[in-house]
Amino acid sequence: MPSVRADSYYKRNFTKNFLKMGYNQPMLRDNALEGQVIIITGGGSGLGKAMTTYFLQLGAKTVITSRNLDKLKKTAEELEESTGGEVLPLACDVRHYDQVEAMLQSTLEKFGKADVLVNNAAGNFISPTERLSANAFDTIIDIVLKGSKNCTLALGKHWIETKQEKLTVLNIVTTYAWTGSAYVVPSATAKAGVLAMTRSLAVEWAKYGIRTNAIAPGPFPTKGAWDRLLPGDLKEEFDMKKKIPLGRVGEHQELANLAAYLVSDFSAFVNGEVITIDGGEWLKGAGEFNMLEKIPEEMWDMLEMMIRSKKNK
Ligand code: HXC
Ligand code: NAP
Repeated sequence: MPSVRADSYYKRNFTKNFLKMGYNQPMLRDNALEGQVIIITGGGSGLGKAMTTYFLQLGAKTVITSRNLDKLKKTAEELEESTGGEVLPLACDVRHYDQVEAMLQSTLEKFGKADVLVNNAAGNFISPTERLSANAFDTIIDIVLKGSKNCTLALGKHWIETKQEKLTVLNIVTTYAWTGSAYVVPSATAKAGVLAMTRSLAVEWAKYGIRTNAIAPGPFPTKGAWDRLLPGDLKEEFDMKKKIPLGRVGEHQELANLAAYLVSDFSAFVNGEVITIDGGEWLKGAGEFNMLEKIPEEMWDMLEMMIRSKKNK
């Protein structure tokens, strides 16, 4: 039985948090990730940084990795200051298995373990495929698919050998992992591979206590993505909001909320899932008659009459 004092404390805080509730507010209870060590590749910028921030707020220790150590150190300093948590910045090009093994070793030296791997690092840019050199295509495949494979394999081997428990791999893919997409073909090809790896390992490695899931975000503005996917005036010309039934792009906290849930024990029975967070964007592009959105409300009476008049003719 909670004491009267604890009970009224709970009610006060519940009311305070309830009043603040909204999709861009932190979702999980305090300390939901306490005791966890989480590696976030590409954690120095964009969505990786947003997820890292929230993991820290929830009590996790984090390791952020990318190719640019100066950027990582700056982010680590900023996040330690703002959250009071611990961040280990490590240079690691995910394309190279030896660098990934060294990154894992440094993580173990610092924190003694790693519980979660978030494969978030990516490379991408728009281009007609025929303009790409073989090396350009390889570069994206190597960062996204080979990089995710390198990190997953290194962590997986370590986890299986040490018989650690409650482990998670979370892969950040995209909705075009299953639809495909013109003009970002290497990225689509690589993300499809990461999605296949997610579903395959969810079954194969479940016996070792490793859950494997993915998030497929729609448009979440970040500098890294927008500079390469919507350069110059394209941002205005192709307003991403117009493609989304909910009429807006994603906010970083929304993605961080979902990621925190998927790496937390609250999602202990979720395995092999890819969760789309895109405001309905990909389905809008897919549904056969979705273009009927453009029909004005007042035209529907006339259309209905025309359809009904064809009955029994
Ligand atoms: C054609 C290009 C090119 C371009 C580079 N290349 N940019 N080809 N058009 N715009 C070619 C180069 O000429 C070279 O081929 C090869 O690609 C490798 O280029 P490098 O610059 O040497 O590679 P590197 O320094 O490793 O940089 C990788 C990169 C870069 C991917 C090209 O953009 C990068 O560092 N990106 C990291 C961050 C990122 O991309 N973030 C966005 C993720 S967004 P040759 O033959 O000349 O040697 C995302 C969102 C998806 O994934 C969904 C959104 C809704
Ligand atoms: P971002 O800021 O450019 O993030 C990509 C990160 O990957 C950077 O921190 C980059 O750091 C790192 N990286 C690139 N190459 C690397 C390599 N070889 N080794 C290690 N790290 C490397 O872009 P973002 O938008 O946040 O993207 C994050 C993830 O979300 C990606 O997986 C992306 O595909 C996915 N996503 C984003 C959106 C969106 O709308 N933003 C939509 C769908 C999916 P360095 O350059 O310092 O190495």
